[in-house]
Amino acid sequence: MDLDDLAWLLSDDGQLLLAEATALVDAEPDPLRAQTALRRTTVPGATPDRTSLALSQAGLRRRAEAKLGALAARMYFTPDALEQATRLSVARHRAARLRAFEAGTVIDLGCGIGGDLVAAAETGALVAGVDLDPVRVALARANLDALGLPGAVQVADATTVDTSPFDVAFADPARRSARGRSFSVDDWTPPWRFVEGLLRRDACVKVAPGIPHELVPDDVEAEWVSDHGEVKEAALWSGRLATVRRRATVLGDGGLATLTEEDDPGAAAVGVRPVGRYLHEPDGAVIRAGLVTAVAAATGGGLLDPHLAYTTSDEAPATPFARGYEVLEELPYREKPLRAALRERGIGRLEIKKRGVDVVPEQLRKRLALSGDTEGTLVLTRVAGEGTALLVRPLR
Ligand SMILES: C[S@@+](CC[C@H](N)C(=O)[O-])C[C@H]1O[C@@H](n2cnc3c(N)ncnc32)[C@H](O)[C@@H]1O
Repeated sequence: MDLDDLAWLLSDDGQLLLAEATALVDAEPDPLRAQTALRRTTVPGATPDRTSLALSQAGLRRRAEAKLGALAARMYFTPDALEQATRLSVARHRAARLRAFEAGTVIDLGCGIGGDLVAAAETGALVAGVDLDPVRVALARANLDALGLPGAVQVADATTVDTSPFDVAFADPARRSARGRSFSVDDWTPPWRFVEGLLRRDACVKVAPGIPHELVPDDVEAEWVSDHGEVKEAALWSGRLATVRRRATVLGDGGLATLTEEDDPGAAAVGVRPVGRYLHEPDGAVIRAGLVTAVAAATGGGLLDPHLAYTTSDEAPATPFARGYEVLEELPYREKPLRAALRERGIGRLEIKKRGVDVVPEQLRKRLALSGDTEGTLVLTRVAGEGTALLVRPLR
């Protein structure tokens, strides 16, 4: 999509065609038939290219729902920019945090289609965004307008922008190189050295969840965020926005919960202990933030192994920071007796979880040749250095 395409899509005729395309995407799953049907439209100026454009925009809106919920139906995207956009739940959490720090003005240095910009504007902050890509800037403007949100956007190189008039500078560097998604900070645009400079003021920078802890500058807080159990990102907070060094935030249906190193008594205080009645699998954000022992402490338990992210306790865990399992029994770890034990219990459907042991669950499941009507969950891990198989039941 280029600027002319977007301008047409935003015109009255473009909006009519987009509405027809949206109805078709809902009614006709076959893209070729949808294309053929839309070409029969009487909307003035609807060339074959524009019908394809409208259909692909309608399809992108549908796809964007998973990330942006109901807002997606009113927004505009390109496939790449949608892929890079922040999930709305996470962007809203970040925006609420900014608001809590009374950040009244925010500059987004690489705003893309405006995923983060929209969330910040929703809180009432005065937002401005820049991006190198003119189409993304036009999309961000269209998205703010479509959602009735105030804000200014313009094409600019973030590295040359004077951020001093703004309370907070925000950046979400692109983490792609010509070879695709990149895990090296050297490939980021704007680059890591720009991020380091930004983190000397009140700023927030979205980064990959895999960011090494040692890369986080002194006095900067790293927050790992998960949504419904899936780690989505990390964010670095600097200046007065940084309140701890490490934080795990879990977002769920009931709201959010947050855990920091201040909740963590450390591995020595928690200790390693034998398997208790319950097993806990800490949330990925907790694991990334290095706060597994905080979960063990919160549940009154200990670690199963000093190097593995499972904790165990005798009390039923009530924590949003881990999935809990009741340990039903220990089964043989060796394959042959394990198969016999599962057969004996009529377990025909088995979820296999593993940590710290060299097992490929799909292959093992095949070799176990299960049969029976019962479902089970098996945890394969190390306890006191020994391979151990635990039959567990997930707690609701
Ligand atoms: C990961 S995307 C941002 C996504 C955005 N946060 C959202 O939720 O929609 C990164 C953006 O930074 C832009 N960008 C990269 N280098 C830039 C630079 N030096 N100046 C301005 N924008 C830049 C890219 O064009 C891209 O749109």
